[in-house]
Amino acid sequence: MAIDFKQDILAPVATDFAAMDKFINEGITSKVALVMAVSKHVVEAGGKRMRPIMCLLAAKACGAQDLAPHRKLAAIIEMLHTATLVHDDVVDESGLRRGRPTANATWNNQTAVLVGDFLISRAFDLLVDLNDMVLLKDFSTGTCEIAEGEVLQLQAQHDPETTEQTYLDIIHGKTSRLFELATEGAAILSNTPQYREPLRLFAGHFGNAFQIIDDILDYTSDAETLGKNIGDDLMEGKPTLPLISALQHTTGEQHAIVRRSIATGGVEQLDQVIQIVQQSGALDYCRQRAEEETQAALAALSQLPESEARQALFNLTEMALHRIQ
Ligand code: IPE
Ligand code: IPE
Ligand code: MG
Ligand code: MG
Repeated sequence: MAIDFKQDILAPVATDFAAMDKFINEGITSKVALVMAVSKHVVEAGGKRMRPIMCLLAAKACGAQDLAPHRKLAAIIEMLHTATLVHDDVVDESGLRRGRPTANATWNNQTAVLVGDFLISRAFDLLVDLNDMVLLKDFSTGTCEIAEGEVLQLQAQHDPETTEQTYLDIIHGKTSRLFELATEGAAILSNTPQYREPLRLFAGHFGNAFQIIDDILDYTSDAETLGKNIGDDLMEGKPTLPLISALQHTTGEQHAIVRRSIATGGVEQLDQVIQIVQQSGALDYCRQRAEEETQAALAALSQLPESEARQALFNLTEMALHRIQ
């Protein structure tokens, strides 16, 4: 049976989610008009709000009764996420995000970098208000690792020798780490440190599956559905799993085309590469890896006591595996 987002995922935290969303908007305040304009442009475009939902559900799954501090934390996480997207679109020279022109395309790179900085600083400003040094330390360390993940990816750009292990290190840093912070942070704020480890494992594997699916979609979706342009990864010569796997599944001319595409970037050969990725079995392998990561995530989550919120997290994980946007 198909999973219904409102009923099967959001329901246990629906009220908290609405309050959280309000808090994101209220949390972004600045006396500088341009800061406000750029921040609102990105935040109001929406997005799936996966990380804050996970944070709230994890809090409930830990047995928290009062979710007031978690609402704030969830909003802070979405703010951090938004900042990484604003920076990421500068680095990736992307023109479309959440169905809108990116901040860098609407204004310019300088503006996007500085407003991204503002959003990170503002997130930490709000985090301090939660008055929890363990949480603050976790987030400080975690955000360093997110930045490292993005730099590691930059280092791998145009390198056809990039291994699957390096790819995993990259996506763990740039993507899974924030999911980990969202759920571990919930355990910290709920005073249930015994759930930190299982939740971190859950979110780490969830994030890996999420990014692998995202990297598949970059070769199989379309801008209309995805809200961002496809082919961006190839354009940048990014050795994502579909390409790493394609190199392992091909020989001769096909192998050479994929290698060359990573090395030079550009989308001249996008159609050909899409065809190779799809027909060589590379995508099947990626889907299998996403499936394995999902199973590992679910196994870790099983260590938490049974609850409606835990079931919602199971459903969210299942839905993320089959997402199309
Ligand atoms: C985009 O994250 C960046 C990745 C980790 C792939 P999302 O797909 O969660 O982006 P929004 O928030 O829904 O726009
Ligand atoms: C997403 O990375 C940005 C972060 C996780 C910081 P990507 O560059 O792979 O994702 P999209 O395709 O731009 O969303
Ligand atoms: Mg990008
Ligand atoms: Mg990127």
